[in-house]
Amino acid sequence: MEDQAFVTLATNDTYVKGALVLGSSLRRYHTTRKLVVLITPQVSESMKKVLNKLFDEVEQVDVLDSGDSAHLALMERPELGVTLTKLHCWVLTQYSKCVFMDADTMVLSNVDELFEREELSAAPDPGWPDCFNSGVFVFKPSIDTYNRLLQFATEKGSFDGGDQGLLNSFFSRWATTEINKHLPFVYNLSSVSIYSYLPAFKAFGANAKVVHFLGKVKPWNYTYDPKTKCVTSEVHDPTMIHPEFLNMWWDSYTTSVLPLLTEHGVVKDTFTGLKALSDLVYTLAFSCGFCREEAVAEAVAQLSIDPPPQPSISSEERKERWEQGQVDYMGEDSFDNIQKKLDTYLK
Ligand code: UDP
Ligand code: GLC
Ligand code: MN
Repeated sequence: MEDQAFVTLATNDTYVKGALVLGSSLRRYHTTRKLVVLITPQVSESMKKVLNKLFDEVEQVDVLDSGDSAHLALMERPELGVTLTKLHCWVLTQYSKCVFMDADTMVLSNVDELFEREELSAAPDPGWPDCFNSGVFVFKPSIDTYNRLLQFATEKGSFDGGDQGLLNSFFSRWATTEINKHLPFVYNLSSVSIYSYLPAFKAFGANAKVVHFLGKVKPWNYTYDPKTKCVTSEVHDPTMIHPEFLNMWWDSYTTSVLPLLTEHGVVKDTFTGLKALSDLVYTLAFSCGFCREEAVAEAVAQLSIDPPPQPSISSEERKERWEQGQVDYMGEDSFDNIQKKLDTYLK
């Protein structure tokens, strides 16, 4: 068991939150395998400390970005070029077999039986079931495979600009000749499938083993009320037909992850308070909306932030990231920075 591991990836502090929820869910169901997280230099020091508490190994790797804006635009996910960083998982040759899981997944039971499967085992993608979804897959680390994947990426590229397009072209026999490598869908149940095939969810959803919050909007983009243990959404959102998994993610975040973040001074009060403030300030800073000073003051009173140094990005790029829910609460988007911006507006 020592030479097998669950592996995830987080290239920034926002995805670290997902990785922490995934890691704590694997621990909750008593996995006997090691937990490994791949991170890139953009992850802050304080988040690294928290990751070290939960994961057996925190491996820093370089960012691999396809830079393929044309293909990424087809998916309307310009941020997913960095998912090629996932390929580094093949370098973990200290393990004989691994299961990769996206940072936006969470296990609902013990899934150690996945290690009985061979490379490359994965579940069908809900959007194109002749492709596998690369949010959960079984693989065998190997430098040779890693080099061949990189060469393939250089020569042929990826049809979606991310790792999933590349991996499906590379492991192309999965679709038709390797049915034994098809994982049951319950090992990668994506939230979109719940509303796109509700009767199937009603019939089989109780068997779900892994939930995958696939898509642009992630659990950390919602607002959660710890008192009612419910997420809220102001806009029309089909995911809310069955918010159980979202509520479970948030319950896990508030009960298992938030105490770790608080212990390490990453947040000194609730994330909910921080998000409420940030959303409000966003309205003020970018939309020049109605100024609700009392709400700002109240939100400010609830929190304090530990800002680590971050590489600076353009204001436009920052706005884009914010809108995708990738808020750099501890860096560029810290309250101090936003307050400076507000001051210039008010002047
Ligand atoms: N990821 C990351 N940083 C990013 C984007 C993605 O670390 O900026 C990693 C993370 O592990 C994430 C995975 O790549 O779960 C795939 O991206 P995502 O889950 O957002 O894609 P989706 O499953 O929604 O297509
Ligand atoms: C997907 C997968 C994700 C992958 C992305 C880019 O939909 O869920 O894991 O990183 O596409 O290829
Ligand atoms: Mn994902």
